[in-house]
Parts: sequence; structure tokens; C-alpha cells
Amino acid sequence: MTDQLKVDTERLWSALEELGSFGRYEAPEANLFGVSRPAFSPADVAARRWIMARMEELGLTVQIDPVGNVFGRLEGSDPGRSPVVIGSHVDSVPQGGAFDGALGVLAALEVVRTLRSAETVLRGPLIVAVFTEEEGSRFGVDMLGSAVAAGRIPLAEALALRDPDGVTLAEALRDTGFAGTGLVLDAPLAYLEVHIEQGPLLSSSDSDIGVPTGVQAISWHELTVVGQAAHAGATPPRLRRDAARTATRLADRMFEYASDHQDHGLTATVGRMLLEPGVINIIPGAARFSLDMRAPDDEVLTAAEAHLSALVEEVHAEGTGLVCESRRTVRTRPVPFAEPLRQIVASWAERLGYRHQPLISGAGHDAQEMAALCPSAMIFVPGRHDGISHSPREYSEPAACAKAATLLLHVVRTLCEESP
Ligand code: GLV
Ligand code: MN
Ligand code: MN
Repeated sequence: MTDQLKVDTERLWSALEELGSFGRYEAPEANLFGVSRPAFSPADVAARRWIMARMEELGLTVQIDPVGNVFGRLEGSDPGRSPVVIGSHVDSVPQGGAFDGALGVLAALEVVRTLRSAETVLRGPLIVAVFTEEEGSRFGVDMLGSAVAAGRIPLAEALALRDPDGVTLAEALRDTGFAGTGLVLDAPLAYLEVHIEQGPLLSSSDSDIGVPTGVQAISWHELTVVGQAAHAGATPPRLRRDAARTATRLADRMFEYASDHQDHGLTATVGRMLLEPGVINIIPGAARFSLDMRAPDDEVLTAAEAHLSALVEEVHAEGTGLVCESRRTVRTRPVPFAEPLRQIVASWAERLGYRHQPLISGAGHDAQEMAALCPSAMIFVPGRHDGISHSPREYSEPAACAKAATLLLHVVRTLCEESP
């Protein structure tokens, strides 16, 4: 096999369209279409089953682990060797796009298909992985499946997580048939993940490929403010305990703090805010909202968390009778990717004539969890419209997706080695 081997661009693209039919919704502003596929929703289950059928067609041995991660194993000529793992996730945020996660899984399958068509046998085993609940949209913790597989989150803790309707992950796994007992990943040789960039750097610099140096730190919080519901028109200022006012003021002060620290890359996002009872002429008695904060430097994020705690304390110190609570639900540290593996990716990009650049990942990824188990690296694909993502406008060109999959193919050939 030569360096000329490439994946089939049209085959990869039609797989993206087909997988995108699960959970598809029409959005006027979409470039391709939107996808709503939270973990173990009917759409996610259908997408997983579709992937498993493709794995079986390709002769992979499919196993499901106790957190619902799906692994398709292609045996090597020397099965005693440690496997190389490639993949991503197929769950999506509600009202997301067709590429986030899906591209990484389909690029991995396309690598296997291309190897099969070229009748190439690898010495080492190759595993295609589909991780559970990468988005955290349903059970509140992102990278959940890979974090369990890599040992950061205990299985029992993950299984006990509940969605907003009170359904536990254990119940969702049992009800959908994804409570597996299969292989737990054990010391893989390496993990590689193709993913859209989800930001503007690659498209603005004309690069074909990004080779991330690592992923920034993430801190998620659920905040609750409790005041007192009362009449909107008849309650004078001294009697108002307005949960909405306190919550929006707190949120705005975190936005200001992030803006003051933007040179350090700090971001703050309130993605959800619910007021109770949520009626126009009632002062809300409670406000619940989420806060997502991220920074490349752990100390910057720790300082932001301390600022948040101080603001929460201030609400009580004001003595207005309002109560505020903040619960941290996710905290990940910055994760650097393995330099030698990044070098292999970069040198293959060079050989294939792809313009490439290093960058830091703004989004969280399964690769950051796998990095605890084995050397891990990613291959980023530029996106249109400043790389917009977590939106139906998410779009990467077919040729751009195929370049990343071809690059993955050659890195896999190098790591697994071909049988003579
Ligand atoms: C996953 O997409 C995340 O970074 O939130
Ligand atoms: Mn993703
Ligand atoms: Mn995502």
C-alpha cells in the first residue's frame, strides 16, 4: 500500500447524510440539516444500531461495555498486540449539527472500509469506539462514557445520574438494550479522534487540518436562587424577593468577570435559565440556571470559581432573605495531548500535502479522557462560517472531512503496522 491511498469522499459524505437522518430536523438557517440526538433518545438508539450494523458488515466484532460505549474490533494478524482505538460519539446536543462527533465515528469506519477495499491486513488490532453521552446534554456530565472507560468517573456514579425527568442512566441503558458487559478498554496503544474544530482558527488561516495541543479546563455549575413568589404589580420594593433579579445580576457579573479575563481565554456561558412559576405577572420565587466556564489555564479557572463562590456568599450577606446555592457538576483539568503522537499526525499531514497547524481545543472531547489511558491525539477539520457548531449551521466541506479521514488512515497504518 502506498501513501497515495485515500478514503472515498462520497462514501464518507453519504454516511454523514445517512447517520444525520436520525434525529434530523429542518432548520431554516441550516447548511445541511440539524440533528437533535441526546444520549439514548430514540434517535441516538437508532444511530447506534445503524453504526453497529455497519460495524458488523465490515466484519468487526461488536461489544458494548457497562456504560453503553460501543466498540467494534478489527483483529490484527498479531492479536497479542495492544489495540489502536479510533472514534468519537454519535449523541448530539439538542438542536445541534450533523458533524459534531458523527464525523469522528464515520471517519473511523471509513478507515476500516478503505483498508478492507485495499485488502490491507494490519498487524495490530484496531477498535472503532462510540462513546456514551459525550455532550452531557441529558445526564448533565460530559464525556461520560469515555470518563468511565478511562477510570476518572466510577461506573456506579455514572449509572446513578438522572436526566431532568428522573430517569437514571442505568434505566436508560437497560430500556434501550445498551447495558453491556463487554470489554473494558485495557491499555490501548493509542487513541485518535477526528473532529470538527468548532471554532474559527482553521478557516481563517486556510489550514486543512488542526493538530490540537490539548483541551482546556471545564467547570460546570447548577445554580439555584430562591426568593418569594408575589404579585408583580402590588408588591412594593421592600417586600420583593425577586429570584430573577438576583440570578440575572449574578450571571451578568460572571459575564463581566470573564470579559475582564478574556486575555486569559476565560469564557462564561449561561445556557439555561428557568424561572418559577414562569408567569408574566408573578415575581419569580425561584430561578435555576447553568453556568459553563472554561479556560486553557487551570489557575484562571480556579480563580473564576472562587469569584463565583464570593458572589454567591454576597447574596446571603445582603440579608434580603434570598437564598443562593451553587453546585459544581463537572470539573476537568486542562489535558495536553501526547507530543510523539501529535508528531506522527503532523508528519503524515506534511507527506499528504495538507496545510496544518497546532491549536488548543475550545470544546471537550472523548480524547481528553482517553489521554489518561494511552497516548491520545486529535485531527481537527475546519468548518464554514467561523466553524460555528452546536448549531444547525455546523458544516464542513466533503473534501475537508475526507482529508482528515485519509490522515487518520495513514496514522493508523503507521501505528498498527501492515502485515508483510
Ligand atoms: C462538548 O461539546 C463540549 O465541549 O461541551
Ligand atoms: Mn463532540
Ligand atoms: Mn459537542
